[in-house]
Amino acid sequence: MKSTRKRLVVGNWKMNLTVGEGYKLLAQLDKNISASPKTEVVICPSAMALGSYQRQVATLKFKLGAQNIHWQDQGAFTGEISAAQIAKFVDYAIVGHSERRIHFGETNDIVARKVSAAVRNGLIPIICVGENLIERQDDHTARVVHDQLAAALVMLTTREIANVVVAYEPVWAIGTGEIAKPEQLKDAVRVIRKTISELYGTGASAQVRVLYGGSVEADFVADYLKLGGLDGFLVGGASLSAPSFTAIIKAVQSGKLAKAHS
Ligand code: PGA
Repeated sequence: MKSTRKRLVVGNWKMNLTVGEGYKLLAQLDKNISASPKTEVVICPSAMALGSYQRQVATLKFKLGAQNIHWQDQGAFTGEISAAQIAKFVDYAIVGHSERRIHFGETNDIVARKVSAAVRNGLIPIICVGENLIERQDDHTARVVHDQLAAALVMLTTREIANVVVAYEPVWAIGTGEIAKPEQLKDAVRVIRKTISELYGTGASAQVRVLYGGSVEADFVADYLKLGGLDGFLVGGASLSAPSFTAIIKAVQSGKLAKAHS
């Protein structure tokens, strides 16, 4: 069966680039790539840049995403930005990135509330799940991925779940140059789809888009797309330079999917 899921490439700029530098990078990317109806490209810059980039992306080939949101829509939360406030600027929101879990104490419960806030405000959450090195070495990867994902989805209805994006991001692969091996990735994608299918049915599971993140480079993107069940990539470091991000986007746009892309 042919998949109707759109491919997705997400660039997470994290706390990098000034507004001006990001503006230049967007302009270069716009020159380098052509729009493709089958592939969405989402840039997640610093929140302070969103207002000015929004005017630029309206004429470009990208969508914008937030790197983080608060779980409440408004209130006394100094320094935070709510999904309700940011929804005017972005279509997507990354939720539960391991850097937020590690450095800002985000628990599975907080992630669930943020996922709910994203959906409530019309944003597509990109939910990050993944094991750390010790969990992998102790053979707990499947349990960790299952538990993080099941917890993150708990406040959504089955219909809402079909629209979410799940990014498998093993913590040991983020920013390290280490890449999940094809077998490791296949196993994790299988756990993600099985978890959704067991909890919410095969229909929801078949509609959810699943990404891989962790030291993504252009040279393995096409091969990984062929593994089956994977819809794209969440890119950190390599999204900060026009040549490397362009190469990744083009590889996803032209890559072949597995025959059984489920
Ligand atoms: P990386 O980051 O591509 O630099 O490993 C990925 C991420 O944190 O999403």
